[in-house]
Amino acid sequence: MSPGLHRRAFVGSALALGACNRRADAQPAPISLPPLKSIARFPVGACIQAVHLQDPELARLVVEQVSQLTPEWEMKMEYICQPDGSFRFDGPDQIAAFARTHGLRLFGHTLVWYDQPPGAFANLDESRVRFADAYRNYILAVVGRYRGQAVGWDVVNETVEDDGGGIRDSLWARRLGKLEHIVLAFQHAREADPDAVLFLNDFFLETHPEKRRAFLKLAETLLKAGAPLGGLGTQTHLAAGDQKGLIKAAIADLASLGLPIHISEMDVSLQEGGSRAERLTRQADLYREAAEAYSALPARQQFAFTMWGLRDRESWRKREDASDAPLLFDVNGRPKAAAAAWVQGLG
Ligand code: G3I
Repeated sequence: MSPGLHRRAFVGSALALGACNRRADAQPAPISLPPLKSIARFPVGACIQAVHLQDPELARLVVEQVSQLTPEWEMKMEYICQPDGSFRFDGPDQIAAFARTHGLRLFGHTLVWYDQPPGAFANLDESRVRFADAYRNYILAVVGRYRGQAVGWDVVNETVEDDGGGIRDSLWARRLGKLEHIVLAFQHAREADPDAVLFLNDFFLETHPEKRRAFLKLAETLLKAGAPLGGLGTQTHLAAGDQKGLIKAAIADLASLGLPIHISEMDVSLQEGGSRAERLTRQADLYREAAEAYSALPARQQFAFTMWGLRDRESWRKREDASDAPLLFDVNGRPKAAAAAWVQGLG
């Protein structure tokens, strides 16, 4: 049976089974799907925390379902950069070792973020030279450590204003310049690793077209400035109340520059959008749309499709609302209707 038929047969039966149990009192029939990475034509990723790898059930699900890992926080300054300016790598090293052991790709997230100005940088003396040296040293140390393993990096994260008004204010922008700190970050990352694909990553690119326009304009500016920008990351943190069609429009727009696209952090919160059942249906629809949109890209632009977690149990969204269930697998690691819809969207 060709992969396409195989996939459709699986999804058809899963959905039919689900439908014939639509009675209000029935528990939804269990959904059986082949591993996501076995049916997607592109790498499928998930974020993970080192501590989560101690859970054998989750570790098994990760190895079974995905081909790429993004450390959820351990490769960020908030973890690595210590108050005295020293660096801590135990967490990211654990994740890197797990990925190597299981033949998974490793994706670095994230080097420079407005949201994480660690004290060690903020307290550096006023001289730009000293600050610029520390900035370069940090990026060389982190990217260099995973050279030859990390397939790519979110070099700069969330640098565009949500209203599309330009580059956010940040410690980095104030000390090194709004555009300069971004160009420098890409140059330093390239100096540390000649092969990793270097991404500009941001959120709300589906729901805020002005922001997407500014994001694309910044990408073009970086390319013109000779920055080694190698890809565009759209985080795709959505909510069940978000309109249909936004994902497809965003992916088509982002792909217009011809660069590889990374859906880098997808989840669909249930915190809005009608009854629980309606929200779950809309959640499935949005995952299906994202899979359809991403599958329609030319292969050279399909870098990876990363979910911001695998099981609902570990989702960061639960910190805001314990009842939220934004991912493809439930708290016990069973595939949800959203997973069947995502597979259906692979076409
Ligand atoms: O695990 C430690 C715990 O041992 C310690 O006691 C506690 C003290 O603060 O910190 C815990 O670590 C937290 C970590 O998540 C793991 O839970 C960090 O404080 C907390 O800052 C960190 O939050 C992460 C956040 O980014 C900031 O790094 C979230 O997990 C992560 O989901 C979130 O992910 C971001 C992306 O990087 C960028 N796009 C948006 C996305 C969601 O906010």
